[in-house]
Amino acid sequence: MRLTQAGLFWLKVLLHLLCILPLVYLVLLVSSDNAGGDPVQYIIHFTGMGAINVLVATLLVSPFAKRLKQGLLLQTRRLLGLYVLGYALLHLSAFISLDLLFAWGLLFEEIVKRPYILVGASCLIILLMLGLTSFHRVKRTMGKRWQALHNWVYLAAILAPVHFYWSVKSEIIEPGIYLLIFTGLLLLRRHILMKRLGFLQQR
Ligand code: HEM
Repeated sequence: MRLTQAGLFWLKVLLHLLCILPLVYLVLLVSSDNAGGDPVQYIIHFTGMGAINVLVATLLVSPFAKRLKQGLLLQTRRLLGLYVLGYALLHLSAFISLDLLFAWGLLFEEIVKRPYILVGASCLIILLMLGLTSFHRVKRTMGKRWQALHNWVYLAAILAPVHFYWSVKSEIIEPGIYLLIFTGLLLLRRHILMKRLGFLQQR
């Protein structure tokens, strides 16, 4: 069965709900004092996991669209990608406002003490560049350079699980699983990746 424009519309509504409802849940938990013993850590964890989970979903769209021969599905990538950016910005805001209490001087100390923060920041910069250039008009203006820039999503897909793995002190099973998931997602794209890197070399 082919996905129609109406079907795509309802799928997008569902995706919006799936991305927004966890945030409503987080607000309810925090405001009702049910966000665990350390609510600040809880919020940083929740938004970081939100960002990485939606990034997995974003990277799953292309293989699914190809397997199911549903080209229209590709149109959900921008929506999901912007939610990855949204969650990541909330994650950073929570860290700077609730953890560091806007003590900007501490930020440098934190980066030296916890270098995985630099990895997260690099990932966020890539997400920001992709988000800012995700508008149709920008895409048209950028021409071929747009695809070259958007290939950086693959680097983001390496940096995000590395940041996660590195940030966790004791438990390695969950971040290890995410490393495997992202490796699998990149392997699924190995042909496209090699073609695009070849394209980059020819230029
Ligand atoms: C400037 C950007 C970023 C900063 C400053 C930052 C900072 C942090 C900090 C302080 C932690 C908590 C580590 C701890 O438990 O002590 C963390 C964890 C985490 N971050 Fe980030 N991060 C950034 C970007 C990102 C991005 C872009 C993603 C995903 C796309 C991400 C996903 C995660 C995940 C999944 C965790 C583990 C959550 C946990 O187990 O607590 N972060 N980050």
